[in-house]
Amino acid sequence: MSLLRLPLFAALLSGILCQYYYYDEPASLLGPSGPNCPEECDCPVNFPSAMYCDNRKLKYIPIVPSGIKYLYLQRNQIDSIKNGVFDNATELSWLILDENQIVNSNIGKKTFSKLKKLERLYMNNNKLTEPVGPLPNTLQELKLANNEISKFPSSLLKGLQNLTVIQLQENNLQDDALAGVFQGLNSLTYLDLSTNKLKRMPQDLPSSLEMLYADHNEISKLPDNYLQKLPKLQYLRISHNQLVDSSIPADFFNVTSLIELDLSFNKLQSIPVVNENLENLYLQVNKLNKFDLASFCKITGPLNFSKLKHLRLDGNNITHNDLPVDMSNCLRQASEVIYE
Ligand SMILES: *[C@@H]1O[C@H](CO)[C@@H](O)[C@H](O)[C@H]1NC(C)=O
Ligand SMILES: *[C@@H]1O[C@H](CO)[C@@H](O)[C@H](O)[C@H]1NC(C)=O
Ligand SMILES: *[C@@H]1O[C@H](CO)[C@@H](O)[C@H](O)[C@H]1NC(C)=O
Ligand SMILES: *[C@@H]1O[C@H](CO)[C@@H](O)[C@H](O)[C@H]1NC(C)=O
Ligand SMILES: *[C@@H]1O[C@H](CO)[C@@H](O)[C@H](O)[C@H]1NC(C)=O
Repeated sequence: MSLLRLPLFAALLSGILCQYYYYDEPASLLGPSGPNCPEECDCPVNFPSAMYCDNRKLKYIPIVPSGIKYLYLQRNQIDSIKNGVFDNATELSWLILDENQIVNSNIGKKTFSKLKKLERLYMNNNKLTEPVGPLPNTLQELKLANNEISKFPSSLLKGLQNLTVIQLQENNLQDDALAGVFQGLNSLTYLDLSTNKLKRMPQDLPSSLEMLYADHNEISKLPDNYLQKLPKLQYLRISHNQLVDSSIPADFFNVTSLIELDLSFNKLQSIPVVNENLENLYLQVNKLNKFDLASFCKITGPLNFSKLKHLRLDGNNITHNDLPVDMSNCLRQASEVIYE
C-alpha cells in the first residue's frame, strides 16, 4: 500500500480498520494523526499533515507533533508563543494565527526562523506593535493586517527572495517606519498598506509589484516618475487620501501596465490623464466639475481609443450635460459610466 492511497483507504474503511493499517505501516509514513495529536486539536486521518486547533478558546499553542505542515490556530485567545512549541514541527509550511491576542514581548526568540519550511505566516488581528522575526527565507506570504504595528526593522525582510504577498493594512505605520523595508524583494507582487498613517507613497518598492494598495491614508502628493519604476503594476488604489490636482505630476498615471485605478474619495477637480489600456477607473466622491476626453484619448481613430470599461464619477459635480458628445468614439468599450 502506498502513502498516496492511504487517504482513500481511510475514507472507505473507518474506525477499527484505521488501527489495522496503522499497525501495518512504518510509523514515519503515517503522519501524526491519532495518538500524537494534542487533545485540544483535530488531526484528520485523511489529511494527516494538517492540525486544526481553531476557534476553541485556547490560551496557548499546544505542542505540535512532527510531520504537521498546516497548522490552524485562528480565533483563539492565545497571547504568547513559548519557546520550544515548534521544536518538532520542522515540516511546518502554513502557520495560521489570525484573531488571537499575541503581543511581541510574549514571543520566544527564534520561534519562526527555526521553521525552515515555513511558507505562510498569518497573524492578522492580533496585538503586535512590530512585525515578528527573524523570518525564514522560505516565506511566501506574510499577513499582519489589523495589528498596532508602528515600527518595522528595515532589515527584517532582507533576503526573503520568495516573498510574494505582504499584508499590513490597518496598522499605525508612518512613512519613515517603512524606509528601505521592501527593497530587493524580487518576488513581491502584492503589497497592502491601506488604512495606515502614510503621507507619501511608499518608496523603494520592487519592480515585480503587480498590486499596490495605499488607500485610506493621508497621502497628499505623488512623486515624479513613481510608476515608471513599477513596470508590472496592474492594480493601484489610492482612494480616501488627500490628493488634489496639483499633487499629481503630469502623465503620472499614463503607464501601459495599469488595468485598475482607484482615486475615489480625494479632492480632484479634473480627471487625470490615464493610459489607453486602463480598464477600470474609480473617481467617485471627488470635486470634479468637468469631463475632458483628452484625459482618456489624445488621438481618436480606428485604432486609437481607450479600453476603459468601467468609469465611476458619481459624487462629483458632473451631470449628463457634462458628458462630451463624442464620448463614444474614445470610450468605445465603456459598458458602464456612472456619473450621478
Ligand atoms: C520532540 O520529539 C522528541 C522525540 O519524539 C520528544 O522526546 C520531545 O518531547 C518532543 N518535543 C516536543 C517539544 O514536542
Ligand atoms: C524559492 O522558490 C523556488 C521556486 O519555487 C524554490 O526552488 C526555492 O527553493 C525557494 N527558495 C527558498 C529559500 O525557499
Ligand atoms: C499616454 O502616453 C503615450 C506615450 O507617451 C501617448 O501616446 C498617449 O497619447 C498618452 N495618453 C493620453 C491619454 O494622453
Ligand atoms: C494611433 O493609431 C495609429 C495607427 O492608426 C498608430 O500608428 C499610432 O501609434 C496610434 N497613436 C497612438 C497615440 O496610440
Ligand atoms: C458645478 O459645475 C458647474 C458647471 O458645470 C459650475 O457652474 C458650478 O459652480 C459647479 N459647482 C461646484 C460646487 O463646483
